[in-house]
Amino acid sequence: MSESVPHGGKLINRINLNLTTDLSRKSVLLDNLELSDLELIANGAYSPLEGFMGKADYESVVNNMRLSNGLPWSLPITLAIDKNKAIELKVGETINLIKDEVIYGVMNVEEIYIPDKILEAEMVYKTTDLQHPGVKKLFGRDELYVAGPITMVRRINNSEFERFYLDPIQTRDKFRNLGWKTVVGFQTRNPVHRAHEYIQKTALETIDGLFLNPLVGETKADDIPSDIRMKSYQVLLENYYPKDRVFLSVFPAAMRYAGPREAIFHAIVRKNFGCTHFIVGRDHAGVGNYYGTYDAQKIFSEFNESDLGIKPLFFENSFYCKKCENMASEKTCPHDARDHVVLSGTKVRAMLKNGVHPPKEFSRPEVIEILIQGMQHVYTKEIKGVEHEK
Ligand code: ADX
Repeated sequence: MSESVPHGGKLINRINLNLTTDLSRKSVLLDNLELSDLELIANGAYSPLEGFMGKADYESVVNNMRLSNGLPWSLPITLAIDKNKAIELKVGETINLIKDEVIYGVMNVEEIYIPDKILEAEMVYKTTDLQHPGVKKLFGRDELYVAGPITMVRRINNSEFERFYLDPIQTRDKFRNLGWKTVVGFQTRNPVHRAHEYIQKTALETIDGLFLNPLVGETKADDIPSDIRMKSYQVLLENYYPKDRVFLSVFPAAMRYAGPREAIFHAIVRKNFGCTHFIVGRDHAGVGNYYGTYDAQKIFSEFNESDLGIKPLFFENSFYCKKCENMASEKTCPHDARDHVVLSGTKVRAMLKNGVHPPKEFSRPEVIEILIQGMQHVYTKEIKGVEHEK
């Protein structure tokens, strides 16, 4: 397979740090999700998008998982405003996009429209249940969407992990320099455990390089914070991966928890970063019991591979088997579930909270050490916070 072509044919670049901004312009305030989307549109990770979606693209994506030009795209990328702002803004004008009093971008207002959020929830999340974190976020947003092309005028400051923030043009360069013809992308919002390592390394047996691309944008409150996760990835790579076959950089998007739809989105975006292949395991981007274990794999059959331009690699639910004395899955292990070491995310978080080490068959001790230290710090802060509130 040759180098992956960006989605839609060319890598979008809508960054212009020399553009002078006009403070007297009208503005829209962005939340964390919208700010991260602004950057990912601007740096080409969301190619071919050049701005927040207009009504035709939005409706086509919600109903058909395609942009209005027919290109596969599974999640709406939108900017929400309230009624007063909608009255204030005029189609055709340029506005500032602001977060915490900083102008990060400008947008040419092309359209303002009212979304059908119930339909959006049903189609994208397969539920309207407000317990679902993605649905809760959707219904918590303002009620109209404003659309149009954007330009990013200032980059987001990413202090601690600066060197792991690479734009698609940079990761593509990197893969080229490493001589990788095939690159498999790995999405994660969790610390890497043994099952992750197993499926990554299984893929590495046939693919030239692994692009470990953890999502570090907004996640739900009980997911492990990204700074702690980043340390866990680094310690794992240092100790257990061949240096020249793995590349770590972050995916600064917010997590939607849209399961199957988000798996398609994650694959397309990794194609833009330069991947030829993408790993989809069990319950990819899922939460609770909203999606079937393999729904995020099944959805790929709704697209043909050349349309998508990236090849999914599917993996069964993997675990450590005490009888095999190895990592395995139902495909390779003949033993009983009682012999399998399986821990839910909730259970692991509870263990970490209490300073209990999950077994080394579940996660590498070096990783656990970092998680326990990191999470103890978080919990101590939380307890102090609660005491403070009293
Ligand atoms: S996700 O929300 O980013 O998908 P997570 O970080 O847990 O969550 O998963 C990262 C990737 O690993 C996903 O493709 C997921 O399907 C896969 N995965 C996680 N755990 C397992 C497992 N035990 N067996 C097989 N695949 C897994």
